[in-house]
Amino acid sequence: MRLVIEPNYADLSRWAGNYVAARINEAKPTPEKPFVLGCPTGSSPLGMYRRLIELYNEGKVSFENVVTFNMDEYVGIPRDHEQSYHTFMWTNFFNHINIKPENVNILNGNAEDLEAECRRFEEKIESYGGIDLFMGGVGPDGHIAFNEPGSSLTSRTRIKTLTQDTIIANSRFFENNVDLVPKTALTVGVGTVMAARSVMLMVNGHNKARALRHGVEGGISQMWTISALQMHPKSIIVCDEAACAELQVQTYRYFKDIESSNLDPDSQLA
Ligand code: GLP
Repeated sequence: MRLVIEPNYADLSRWAGNYVAARINEAKPTPEKPFVLGCPTGSSPLGMYRRLIELYNEGKVSFENVVTFNMDEYVGIPRDHEQSYHTFMWTNFFNHINIKPENVNILNGNAEDLEAECRRFEEKIESYGGIDLFMGGVGPDGHIAFNEPGSSLTSRTRIKTLTQDTIIANSRFFENNVDLVPKTALTVGVGTVMAARSVMLMVNGHNKARALRHGVEGGISQMWTISALQMHPKSIIVCDEAACAELQVQTYRYFKDIESSNLDPDSQLA
């Protein structure tokens, strides 16, 4: 696992955006062999999406041959609800880049048969030969996508009941009213994320410090689904200083040391 520690959220977002663009460019995607990108929602990736839009506007990256799969979607709110992940993705990212609408894949939380919808999603990922880079955030309780504490580490796309913690955390987007937050969601599984060829999580802010500690220093546990990343051969967590508050000094120094000799993705985007 790589742990990239940036001073603050702005630098973290810039690093993450540059990294994603560099990976897309490196792959030289074509219509026959597109770059397959796993996408998260939430506040953590917003700065990274802004950076990617900037790079697109500067002509430094193109999404023409990029296919996306979103991590999750609420069940039971209309697709065009202002808090649906569908709306989030188009408002904050897709509307501002040259992605083809037919290359965007977001779970349908209003499908008649939700289980069939989850199976269809996994099959579609498979039809592209898997995901090249799965991006993600993390919940304060360590969940990735909506894989709440207790989720199987081999899980695949399915329906999940949200924990009270997540409902409270996400109520900030629903007029601070927990009753308005959907109680279930469709989500890729920990196993779906782990099957990607590479994974990059963005972790910022003091309220994620505990999740980061469990992800980096804790044992692998279904109670902190972020910890599954320890088993991935090519995972990166990019975090800010605030999120490091609970790391041991030796852990912090070790990763800082390693990264001081690594290439900044900025330099790959000339
Ligand atoms: C939700 C999403 C997760 C996201 C988490 C953290 O639960 N399903 O994918 O990582 O929120 O959100 P934020 O980045 O806003 O802290």
